[in-house]
Order: sequence, then C-alpha cells, then structure tokens
Amino acid sequence: MSNNLPGGSGWHRKAVLAVTIIGVAVMTFLIVGLLMNIQERKEEAKERFLKLVDLTDDTVDPAVWGQNFPRQYDSYKRTVDMVRTKHGGSEAIDKLTNPRLVTLYLGYAFSQDFREDRGHAYMLQDQDETRRVKIVNQPGSCLHCHAAVMPAYRKAGGGDVMAGFKKICAQDWHEARKLVDHPVSCVDCHDSKTVQLRVTRPGFLNGIQELADFLADTRGAQERSRRGDSTHDGYRELFPHLSSLERYAAANAGTPRPQRNRYDVNKEATRQEMRSFVCGQCHVEYYFKKGEGNLLVYPWSKGLKVEQIESYYDERQFTDWNHKITGAPLLKAQHPEFETWNQGIHARSGVACADCHMPYKREGAVKVSDHHVRSPLLNIARACQSCHRYAEPEILARATAIQDRTKELLDRAEFALTDLIQAIKTAEEKKAPAAGLAAAKALQRKAQWRWDFVSSENSTGFHAPQECARVLAEAIDYARQGHISLLAPPRE
Ligand code: HEC
Ligand code: HEC
Ligand code: HEC
Ligand code: HEC
Ligand code: HEC
Repeated sequence: MSNNLPGGSGWHRKAVLAVTIIGVAVMTFLIVGLLMNIQERKEEAKERFLKLVDLTDDTVDPAVWGQNFPRQYDSYKRTVDMVRTKHGGSEAIDKLTNPRLVTLYLGYAFSQDFREDRGHAYMLQDQDETRRVKIVNQPGSCLHCHAAVMPAYRKAGGGDVMAGFKKICAQDWHEARKLVDHPVSCVDCHDSKTVQLRVTRPGFLNGIQELADFLADTRGAQERSRRGDSTHDGYRELFPHLSSLERYAAANAGTPRPQRNRYDVNKEATRQEMRSFVCGQCHVEYYFKKGEGNLLVYPWSKGLKVEQIESYYDERQFTDWNHKITGAPLLKAQHPEFETWNQGIHARSGVACADCHMPYKREGAVKVSDHHVRSPLLNIARACQSCHRYAEPEILARATAIQDRTKELLDRAEFALTDLIQAIKTAEEKKAPAAGLAAAKALQRKAQWRWDFVSSENSTGFHAPQECARVLAEAIDYARQGHISLLAPPRE
C-alpha cells in the first residue's frame, strides 16, 4: 500500500532504517554494557588472584600481602577490636581477680599475671608486656606462637628450619625477641605462591607426626587383637574428622615406626582438616623440654585426651612447678583448644575452627573468609546460622547454657582444690602420716591438671561440653579423694 504514495516509500524506508540503526545501537550499547558488567563481576570474583606485588616466604609484613588481597587484609586488621562476651571476648581482663586462681598457681609466674586472650594483633605486644617474661627468664621458645617467626628459623638454621627452631628455642627470650617484628601473618597460614593453606610451625609438624604414629600404633594393636595375636581389648578411638591421619594409620598399622614414611601434613591433609590445623599450630597444650634446650614440644604421642597427655607427662616425671604451700609437683595446662575441639560433636561432624571463627562473608560477587578471628558469639549470623536455622537469641542461649554449666563446675573444682591445699597445709603442720600426705599431693596434681585443662581452654566448655564436664567431675572427685586420704591415710 505504501508503495502507492509518491515519494512516501523512500521516506518510510529511511525512517525504518534510522529506527533500526538507533535500535541496534541501543541494543549493542546495552549488551556491551551487560557484558562489561558481567566481566567486571568475574574480575571481581577472580580478584583474589590479582597480583600487584610478588610475595615470597620471607614476606612477613601483612600490609604487603594486603596489596594483593585487600579484603582479607582489611578484616585481618580488625583483630585490634576489643569486645567482651559473657565468658570470653577480646579484652585483656585480669583473670587473677578470682582469688582462687592466685592460690592454685602459687609459686608459679601465672599467679602474678594471667589475662583473658585478645585479638591476634596483640599477640606480640602482650607477650612483651606480661610480667611472666619479666619475673622469669623465659626462653626463645615463647616466640613460636606469638610472631611470624619462620624467616628467623630459616636464617638461624642456615636454611634448615628445624635446626633454626632448636637454636632459637634455646636462646634467651630477650635475645630471640629481636629476631621478629610481626604477630601471626598471612605467610603463617598461606603458601606465598599459591595462597593455599599450609602449616609451617615445627612444634605442630612434630606433634601431628607423633599423633599420626600413635593412631597407626593403636590401629596395629587393634588388628592384632582381632586376629587373636594380643591381649589388647580391641578398642580404639576413631578420628573420623581427621581423615588423612586415619589413612596414614591404616597404611602403617602393620609397620614398625622406624620403617614408616613420614606423614606429610601439607600434602596429605584435606582442605577441611587444614581449616583447623592452621589454628592447631598454636592453640594447643605444650611444654618446653628442659634437657633439650627448652625445645617446644606438643605432648601428643599418647593421644589428645586429658588423661593421655597426663600419662605422657607422668612417664617423663615432668613438672612445671612445685606448689608454694603444699610442694606438690604440678602441671600447668596452656590453651588446649585443638585437643578439646577434637573431643566435641562439632569436630566429629566435620566442623572446622575456621567455620566458626572465620566464616564466609559476601562482598559484592566475592565470598571471602572473615579474617577478623574472634569470638563467634559476636557474629552468630555468619558463624552459626549457616548451619543452625534457629533465631539468634536461641543460639546464643544454647551456647551460654553450656558455658554457664561449665563455669559452675569450674567454681566447684576450684573450691575443692583450695580446700585440699588448706587441708594438706594443716595436716603437714600436725605432722600427719607421710603416706596420707603423699597420696593427697599426688591427687592434687591429678585434680589441678584436669581443672586447669578446662579452665585454661578458652571456650568455657563450648568446644566439647560433655568432655569438659567429665574432666571437671574427675577434678572434683580427685580433690575430695585427696582430702579423704588425709583423714584415712592409705596403709604404708
Ligand atoms: C562450632 C563452632 C566452633 C568451632 C568449630 C570452634 N570454636 Fe572456638 N569458640 C566457639 C565459641 C562459641 C566460643 C566461645 C566464645 C565466647 O565465650 O565469647 C569459642 C571460643 C574460642 C576461643 C576464645 C575466644 C574468646 O572470645 O576469648 C578460642 C581461642 C577458640 N575458640 C579457638 C578455637 C580453635 C583453635 C578451634 C579449632 C581447633 C575452635 N575454636 C573451634 C565456637 C567454635
Ligand atoms: C604453642 C604456642 C604458644 C607458645 C609456645 C606460647 N604461647 Fe602464649 N599464647 C598462645 C595462645 C594460643 C594464646 C591465646 C590463648 C590464651 O590466652 O589462652 C596465648 C596467650 C598468651 C598471653 C596472653 C594471655 C595471658 O596468658 O596472659 C601471654 C601474655 C602469653 N601467651 C605469653 C607467653 C609466654 C611468656 C610464652 C613462653 C613461656 C608463651 N606465651 C608461649 C600460644 C603460645
Ligand atoms: C601463630 C600462632 C597462632 C595461630 C596460627 C592462630 N592463633 Fe589464635 N591466638 C594466638 C595468640 C597468641 C592469641 C592471644 C593474643 C593475645 O591475647 O594477645 C590468639 C587469640 C585468638 C583468639 C581470641 C581472640 C579474641 O578476640 O579474644 C581466637 C578466637 C583465636 N586466636 C582463634 C584462632 C583461630 C580460629 C585460628 C586459626 C584460623 C588461630 N587462632 C590461629 C596465636 C595463634
Ligand atoms: C591463622 C591463619 C590465617 C592467617 C594468619 C591468614 N589467613 Fe587467609 N585464610 C585462612 C583460612 C583458614 C582461609 C580459608 C581457606 C579455605 O577454606 O580454603 C583463608 C582464606 C584466604 C584467602 C582465600 C579467599 C578467602 O577469603 O577464602 C585469601 C586470599 C587469604 N586467606 C588471604 C590472607 C591474607 C592476605 C592474610 C594476611 C593479611 C591472611 N590470609 C592471613 C587462614 C589464615
Ligand atoms: C558447619 C556447620 C555448623 C556450624 C557453623 C555450627 N554448628 Fe553447631 N552443630 C553442627 C552439627 C553438625 C552439630 C551436631 C548435631 C547434629 O548432628 O545435628 C551441632 C551441634 C550443636 C550444638 C549441640 C551441642 C551438643 O553438645 O549437643 C550446639 C549447642 C551448637 N551446635 C551450637 C552452635 C553455635 C553456637 C555455633 C556458632 C558459634 C555453631 N553451632 C556452629 C553444625 C554446625
């Protein structure tokens, strides 16, 4: 029809052409815009691999890593925050305002200065400032968990980390302190080339090897008892959540220790295991081997439970100090978070330290791990609600209930122990029979070790509620048994 209009067809065609051109232009613009946006998002998501500076294993300064990974660095810096929770949090509260702790630690530096832990940013400063390094000559071993120390080990050992570790452990603390400048840094948990998680700490590498061999030994014993070749009861504790250790145990059960291959944690551990192992580098029970230049050792060769570690120390007749009033040879528990977590339902269900203490958060198109390591109770939405679909107040109430119950048992154990100390003192003044006194002091050691294992663990029972209650029940019982042994001494 339009063809009949004189000149109209030409005008119309031009109009259609113009509209089409404009339309295509607009569409192109939109599509390009969309593609650019998608590209930008993808770049954002890939951003973690954006390399602005070259990192090496000697790059300890987190600010340099921060140029490549600004998001992780930003949250890492926030570990300076100080917020209290009911039983924990990050203020350096003086634990010794509880007078029972002063009595229990009498004769040891912990009766002079002992505080609540706070954020990673303070670890070096807090070690510098504690009276425990001023009134006692501490060894270089202390730095293993309070600084980015690996380059110093490499240097001191001429490239050999283990040799450097030994050397620096044996040094005086003040001398060793000059070798480090930074608290725990990126390079302590990440490979500088691939950013993969890895563990570096010699104390942990040695300790986890001992644990792996212990698991292989007990598995061997179990297999022999099944075959009827031994009188072992056949029971063996499983570590379902530490699957690479179980694999090592299965492969080496029949092989004597010297002929086994080493367990290479950085190659064999699963990613989920690594999300706890990086923390297990420091959040553990430890002691210094006096005969070997104060070498730092994690006492794991008989297992991770309180009585297994106790029997390790008993075999070596190891004592941290003698109690000032009773003279009993006592042990100081440090911060057995890793050991305690291992006994809990979360660990056994495959929940790692990082799941609660470094949960994911979304920033734009990127999922980042929150490097503001802190109390998960300050971050319930991300730390707990990813798994537990209850309202925040209910989750908090459940966690607090566990902690309140633990605290009540801790108090009872403290009263039982301070009563025992008083009773031993009185018995000694009255020249009570030696057998009763010796039994009471041995029981003081057992009771105090168990109480301290829960008291110095920093979750107030949360990491393994039932286990902590069991340990405290034993502590109370041993302390009261000690009391009874003074009233009715065992026969000589
Ligand atoms: C299921 C979650 C969860 C897992 C897994 C977990 N924790 Fe915790 N952790 C908590 C809670 C809850 C607290 C109590 C915090 C409070 O009292 O404010 C806590 C407390 C702590 C504290 C003391 C924090 C403070 O505020 O003083 C440290 C240190 C700690 N955990 C380390 C670890 C380590 C190391 C691991 C792994 C071996 C681990 N946690 C595994 C939930 C978890
Ligand atoms: C195996 C690792 C490790 C070693 C070795 C170690 N620490 Fe710690 N230290 C930690 C961890 C983990 C915390 C945080 C948990 C806590 O406070 O219980 C901590 C906390 C502290 C604190 C702050 C809380 C408090 O106890 O007052 C001080 C101070 C401290 N350590 C001093 C020392 C001194 C001194 C030495 C050497 C005698 C030492 N540390 C050796 C891991 C270690
Ligand atoms: C190099 C040793 C080291 C490593 C590795 C390490 N920590 Fe710590 N952590 C410490 C020390 C030391 C402190 C105590 C600092 C202080 O009180 O000044 C601490 C404190 C903490 C606190 C208390 C923070 C607060 O706000 O109260 C938590 C929670 C914690 N660490 C969890 C973890 C988790 C989870 C991991 C693994 C992802 C981990 N840590 C890895 C040494 C370490
Ligand atoms: C105490 C150990 C620890 C320290 C110190 C640490 N990280 Fe991480 N980082 C982790 C853990 C655990 C993850 C989770 C990794 C996983 O699940 O594979 C992680 C993940 C990452 C990732 C991968 C992306 C993500 O967010 O999950 C990057 C990148 C990263 N960290 C950078 C850094 C930088 C930069 C620093 C120093 C400013 C640093 N980290 C310090 C433990 C640590
Ligand atoms: C990655 C998943 C995951 C995260 C994160 C997690 N939980 Fe759990 N939680 C579990 C599993 C699995 C169980 C075991 C019970 C089950 O199988 O249903 C459990 C059990 C519990 C229990 C019962 C404990 C007991 O001894 O019976 C409490 C309380 C609890 N969680 C609180 C918390 C709190 C508080 C947080 C955050 C700090 C948290 N959970 C974070 C998975 C998780």
